[in-house]
Amino acid sequence: MRIYEDLMRKKPILAAAEAEALGDPFAASTGPGLVKVLCARDLTALGIAAIIGAGIFSAIGNAAYWGGPAIIFLFIFTSFACGCTAMCYAQFASLIPASGSAYTYAYVAFGEFIAWVMGWDLLMEYAIGNIAVAISWSNYFVELLAGYGLAIPDHLTMDYRTALNGAMAVKERIAAGQNLQELMALPGVAPFIRSYRAWEFAPDILGYRVIFNLPALFIVAMVTALIYVGTQESKKVSNAMVLVKVMTILLVIVAGIFYVKPANWNPFAPNGIGGVMKGVSGIFFAYIGFDALSTTAEECRNPQRDLPRAMFGSLGICTLLYVALALVLTGMVHYSRLQVGDPLAFAFGRLGADVQWLMGIIAASAVVAMASVLLVFMLGQPRIWMAMSRDGLLPRCFCVIHRRFRTPTLATLATGLSVAVPSLFFNLSEVTDLTSIGTLFAFSIVCAGTLVLDGNDRPEPQRFRVPYIDSRYIFAPLLIAIGGALLVFCPETFLQSLTTSSAPGVRLGTILFLLFSATLAYLSFVRRLSLIPLMGLESCVYLMTELTGACWLRFSIWIVLGLFVYFLYGRRKSKLNTAGLR
Ligand code: ALA
Repeated sequence: MRIYEDLMRKKPILAAAEAEALGDPFAASTGPGLVKVLCARDLTALGIAAIIGAGIFSAIGNAAYWGGPAIIFLFIFTSFACGCTAMCYAQFASLIPASGSAYTYAYVAFGEFIAWVMGWDLLMEYAIGNIAVAISWSNYFVELLAGYGLAIPDHLTMDYRTALNGAMAVKERIAAGQNLQELMALPGVAPFIRSYRAWEFAPDILGYRVIFNLPALFIVAMVTALIYVGTQESKKVSNAMVLVKVMTILLVIVAGIFYVKPANWNPFAPNGIGGVMKGVSGIFFAYIGFDALSTTAEECRNPQRDLPRAMFGSLGICTLLYVALALVLTGMVHYSRLQVGDPLAFAFGRLGADVQWLMGIIAASAVVAMASVLLVFMLGQPRIWMAMSRDGLLPRCFCVIHRRFRTPTLATLATGLSVAVPSLFFNLSEVTDLTSIGTLFAFSIVCAGTLVLDGNDRPEPQRFRVPYIDSRYIFAPLLIAIGGALLVFCPETFLQSLTTSSAPGVRLGTILFLLFSATLAYLSFVRRLSLIPLMGLESCVYLMTELTGACWLRFSIWIVLGLFVYFLYGRRKSKLNTAGLR
């Protein structure tokens, strides 16, 4: 049986400080280590900063529309999946207090190749996530300014394709005989009018219309500057933003309770489990963030103790807030009317003049919430580049630390550029699901890594470990019980999950998931696997099967591209190779 030291040998370079102590000549040239300024409270606040954002401020509306008040079960289930995963992250963070998050953990558990796949996945997840948040932030910000009568020219608030598509849609309707006034009154068409105006009034340079998203560039530049000058400064700003958004959500819950009509909770699950599960991607997105904490391990005063506490703390607080908010929101407004982009403001907007002031607070708070999510994820992204660069898988310039600010210099600037440029021009509506699939993939690998480490790990009392529960006689019976309950109580949902709506026949994702579950059930019996990581793995893989085929295709293309980069660059340049350890 492999022992702990064997596992650690798979990851010979842990942190700059350790590498320097061990005499790694390159470590000295990368500058000093990162500065240790984060305590448990700061980390919990950073976790909340990363979790509460666009997900809860907008996706809850669509999820409630499909699932009704029963989406509280989706919140609880997603929190359970995230909670099992958070335990695995916490165990790794406690074992390996080094930057790099799931990339570093995959390295220790599975070696360089899986670590590369993981790192490549994280590069996509963080970059796409940050671009998407920057663009949403811009939309909310423009609306907020408009509410105060301030307008940014439309061609400076969106990407080229959004303007073009919107303009085409409006022109088609005008050609069909409708005029602009009529179109503005149609709720579904109103957003296209802005695109139309952007297209029509954009200045023309050399035959190319100048259309780009200036507010997105602005927020990315501000956040990049902040994370460049220091983690201490980023922490202070993030703490202030967390206070604003948590207070706002509490205000919405408390004020909303007075407007709840219990009749709105009936029916509780209008479209059954199938309807509830339609909100998976959005609700899961609302929970992403606690994992980003682990990228800051080298800036924590006591990462082994504080990171696990902060992950559970932030996840627990957010779950309570989300469930309460979902109950209040669906109690205030009938679920069938909640398919709007700004459901919290919408719920109060219908109540008359005396609560209009709350709409302004909610709109401003959404802007703050998204900026804080961007802050934490943009703080995390360069630390993953840094960890991969230290191992030689990315160019070495990315692990240089600024002598004065003690932050990763080039990695931070590269992160800023890689988010700012696409957010100026990209239309990301089709690829935001990539953030969810990328995160679920990372979660699955971390849960699987915990199962691999289990039993090979050297127990130390000060370290956090996932409590071991023998899954031998629990896992398979549990799966059978859940499947049986679905078959008896909601047979139509069970059958729906087996077939596709677009093509006749069996749904491939469900079949693969059933095969995967059967394999896990077998392994749980034979190897007495630990139940919590096993449940985390099972739930994350299940959530992945609920994502669309298009999302899977894009994700697969990205991973295949990553394999080319690995075999053409990473594998040859990696420290395992150059140090002759392979
Ligand atoms: N959980 C974060 C959000 O909802 C990513 O914006």
